[in-house]
Amino acid sequence: MHKKALAVGIAGLGTVGSGVVSLLQRRRALYAERTGTDVFIETVSARDRDRDRPCDVSSYRWTDDPVAMASDGAVDVVVEAVGGEDGTAYALCRAALENGKHVVTANKALIAARGAELARIAEDNGLALAFEGAVGGGIPLLKTVREGLAANEMTRVAGILNGTCNYILSAMENGGGNFDAALRAAQEKGYAEADPHTDVEGIDAAHKLAVLSALCFGLLPSMEGIRYEGVRRLKPVDFAAARLFGCTIRLLAVAERGADGAVFRAVYPALVNLSHGFACVTEAGNAVRIEGDAVGSLFLQGPGAGMFETASAVVADILDVAAGRRSYPFSVPVRRCIAPSPPASPRETAYFLCISLAAGHQAEDVVAAFAGLGVQMGAVKTLSREGVPYVACLTERAEEGKVPAAAESVLGEDAESGTEYAVLRAE
Ligand SMILES: NC(=O)c1ccc[n+]([C@@H]2O[C@H](COP(=O)([O-])OP(=O)(O)OC[C@H]3O[C@@H](n4cnc5c(N)ncnc54)[C@H](OP(=O)(O)O)[C@@H]3O)[C@@H](O)[C@H]2O)c1
Repeated sequence: MHKKALAVGIAGLGTVGSGVVSLLQRRRALYAERTGTDVFIETVSARDRDRDRPCDVSSYRWTDDPVAMASDGAVDVVVEAVGGEDGTAYALCRAALENGKHVVTANKALIAARGAELARIAEDNGLALAFEGAVGGGIPLLKTVREGLAANEMTRVAGILNGTCNYILSAMENGGGNFDAALRAAQEKGYAEADPHTDVEGIDAAHKLAVLSALCFGLLPSMEGIRYEGVRRLKPVDFAAARLFGCTIRLLAVAERGADGAVFRAVYPALVNLSHGFACVTEAGNAVRIEGDAVGSLFLQGPGAGMFETASAVVADILDVAAGRRSYPFSVPVRRCIAPSPPASPRETAYFLCISLAAGHQAEDVVAAFAGLGVQMGAVKTLSREGVPYVACLTERAEEGKVPAAAESVLGEDAESGTEYAVLRAE
């Protein structure tokens, strides 16, 4: 018999909520052993009470309006698995914290937009606001940064944080057709939403970077200043060209502390060497490389989404609450977190240019035009796909933004004549 008990209210019974219900049902005795607390489901909520679900919720009290859980005297911890950066999810989390309830969520959009405000209320009321499942799905990434790497100053974190984009890129890399075909395959396999905008434009990865970089660098969680671009412009031939350089292409989210202490944060498709751990992450996998001044470099890889994979992280957060393990949501008191600002001096990076040339255009002329704008090419390779001449160039290191601006100047006007291009940074 366990002396303590923790009553859980679960709002949202979709992929994540159903996984959490199943684990809490199945492992009640084990979790009680591990925490000294009987963790049980008090009530559940979703939009449609009659919907068939992968978990059995028939024995739990149903709450029609999830926000009502916030004032439910029988609930100790609210699990928000509804989604969205405002609306029900925000109203529920805010009201729950104001009413003295712990909050666990996997909602990166909410934490990226409202995490600071919610963390303030949680800290003022001595409550947990936990969101391990929000970044990297089942990879215990935030815990690793917050607790396992607490002795370090972080210098850089870079990762594959969006499984949908990674699925699309690894499909294109392996002969899965163009972007549209790879996206359709991702949708058929359940890796992409019917509306894939947030994923393929890099917004989801940017939300996760906002949260991860806050923990790593003591920043307020915010999308402010994060530059993001997605994967729509990439073509199968770009992967063939990358291979000529011994590389492939991955969508990376990167946060890097500059010499002045400010943190560069961006999401972009990057040229990645085939020997790099990122190149080995295929399908919907996620991976993160963290660099700390004491530990050096660490590589974490695992499932970035999925019912039980994400529930693994969400339940771990619930068990922390049950065991009385509490930490600052963003590593330090949120009032000590600073607003992100871009580094004063631009960082330097090498770029990879992928250019499908319009008829009549010559690779040498294009390279000369870039040289005229001060962009030096380290290596140039030409190939042809279905009769279309194509040139791939790896530039010398250049100031952030210089090469994309030169590409717009040299190639932008040629768009109507059929020239297409993508500008990638080299990892
Ligand atoms: N899916 C993943 O693998 C994954 C991974 C990491 C993080 N996350 C995050 O976890 C959260 C949930 O994602 P999910 O994939 O589980 O979503 P989902 O499958 O679409 O489930 C959403 C659930 O919320 C309920 N819901 C939506 N609007 C509601 C409202 N106004 N009132 C009451 N219930 C409402 C839905 O009810 P009905 O079922 O009745 O329609 C559904 O049960 C999101 O923030 C997402 O970003 C997901």
